[in-house]
Amino acid sequence: MRLERPSLKWEKEHIAYMKEWDEDRMTPSSFQLQEGIPYELYLEELAAKEAGLGNRMLSTNYFLVDNDERIVGMVNIRHGLNDYLRQVGGHIGYGIRPSERRKGYATYLLSEALHITDELGIRSVLVTCNEDNIGSAAVIVNNGGVEDESFTEPHGNVVRRFWIKR
Ligand SMILES: CC(C)(COP(=O)(O)OP(=O)(O)OC[C@H]1O[C@@H](n2cnc3c(N)ncnc32)[C@H](O)[C@@H]1OP(=O)(O)O)[C@@H](O)C(=O)NCCC(=O)NCCS
Repeated sequence: MRLERPSLKWEKEHIAYMKEWDEDRMTPSSFQLQEGIPYELYLEELAAKEAGLGNRMLSTNYFLVDNDERIVGMVNIRHGLNDYLRQVGGHIGYGIRPSERRKGYATYLLSEALHITDELGIRSVLVTCNEDNIGSAAVIVNNGGVEDESFTEPHGNVVRRFWIKR
């Protein structure tokens, strides 16, 4: 298993991965492909977002790829926190393809992402999940997450917030 940066060679795999999510909006949303947009343009737009387009936080995106060259997960690592990320988004967002869940991949993916936040010099990493996301909460606790106060969004969604000290 390894992390790979998005590039043209992953186009087919990325599309196949996305198809498994059916109507669900993909997490992280940075990997959502829009119909009719060429992959080259998606990559350009992703690079612009990573570089901070429109007041965005700097970020880096990776695929988690298995030994059969199949994408099993995706992760978006934010290089810092703004108000929204501090309350809701956290430093790291991740998802695993539906057919590969409950095999420990998210726990592994978050541990790999933490090596990258280490390299960025982030010593307290915020990771969040919705109150009903038992699987994601377990992934965070597996990686040393210590729960802080929850945040309730204006429409009532409760976000659980965990800090991982490095
Ligand atoms: C949440 C998600 C990332 C978990 O991925 P995963 O690869 O299945 O997680 P893991 O296999 O590492 O599981 C970690 C733990 O959670 C438990 N778990 C995972 N999914 C679960 C579920 N739906 N219900 C209850 N427990 C669950 C596992 O049994 C495991 O428990 P253990 O550590 O005690 O053995 C995956 O379901 C997903 O992509 N969901 C949609 C996107 C999303 O919610 N992303 C997170 C945003 S905060």
